[in-house]
Amino acid sequence: MARRVHVELGERSYDIVIGRNIRIGTVLKQTGATGGLLVSDSNIDPVHGDACQAGLESIGLKVARLVIPAGEQSKSMTSLCRIYDRALELGLDRFSFMVALGGGMIGDLVGFAAATYMRGIALAQVPTSMLAMVDSSVGGKTGVNLEQGKNLVGSFYQPVEVAVDLALLETLPEREFVSGLAEVVKYGVIDDFELFELIEANVDGVLQRSGKLLEQIVARCCEIKAGIVSEDEREGGRRAILNFGHTFGHALENAEGYGRLLHGEALAVGMVYAAELSAWECGLPVDQKERRSKLLRSLGLPVSPADAGMTWNMLREKMTADKKTRASVPRFVLAEGIGSVIIGRTVSEEVLAEAFEVLVCRA
Ligand code: GLY
Repeated sequence: MARRVHVELGERSYDIVIGRNIRIGTVLKQTGATGGLLVSDSNIDPVHGDACQAGLESIGLKVARLVIPAGEQSKSMTSLCRIYDRALELGLDRFSFMVALGGGMIGDLVGFAAATYMRGIALAQVPTSMLAMVDSSVGGKTGVNLEQGKNLVGSFYQPVEVAVDLALLETLPEREFVSGLAEVVKYGVIDDFELFELIEANVDGVLQRSGKLLEQIVARCCEIKAGIVSEDEREGGRRAILNFGHTFGHALENAEGYGRLLHGEALAVGMVYAAELSAWECGLPVDQKERRSKLLRSLGLPVSPADAGMTWNMLREKMTADKKTRASVPRFVLAEGIGSVIIGRTVSEEVLAEAFEVLVCRA
């Protein structure tokens, strides 16, 4: 039986349905919409596009398809305009819908298209990657990248439904699956020590994508995210804890060139960097710092920058373009211990550079 996790946001509330071979589109149907656009990418559409379209059509929703080239480079204004063009060509109106079938790139891009097309139409998220299932499909962050940085244009726009079909993970390439596990570890670090320990004790089972364990982990991550988003939808406060590891992670992703490092891989390095800063700035015990790196490594995630030529100056410059930066001073989420985090911390330039050196030495 499918599990349901409720995201309470008043009139914008919705459920995340988690299971295997689950039905998609029932809530879209209830909105009264009859037609829409199913957007996917060139990796996902050939594998899951037909089944998703058939599922929507089986409940009377007429749907056309659009395929965007796979890869983070497609999370762009150019792709956004392609979606608008296709929607207009199809005559979609304010009562139409969009379905985002894919990983984080598709979810963010299509979410932003749905948020802005005709000032907002109904959106369903059908995540196909681990990262999208536990993070990006939930909570309404949508947007595209600019050359200067990640997610610099976007909006908060909630879907009407999120269908997390774990069967879709069976075809997910190993590297992408592992990349998504970085977000899972993040929830353990910022909020739930039991989750952290569960992963630590079951690394092999997690990597084998074992059925019940995977369902338990995905559902727990969705519960944590739903709770945080319900409390602070627009990141006025607590939601910022979800950015743990992201200040450095986004800078690294951008400096390496989008697509070289997957988001979760950059996040893993970013979390190790944040832990290093936390040890300097708020006394994160060394054993806890090491425990995080060890877990990330045992899952097959990187813990230092992959590119040996990456310099501190390159990364520091990229951090200035981060959304969390104010007046050129980057802000960090730091941790005092597992489950205890501090948001919006600034750190001296010396410590920032020193922590980078420590990271490079780990390579
Ligand atoms: N991925 C961070 C957030 O949704 O707030």
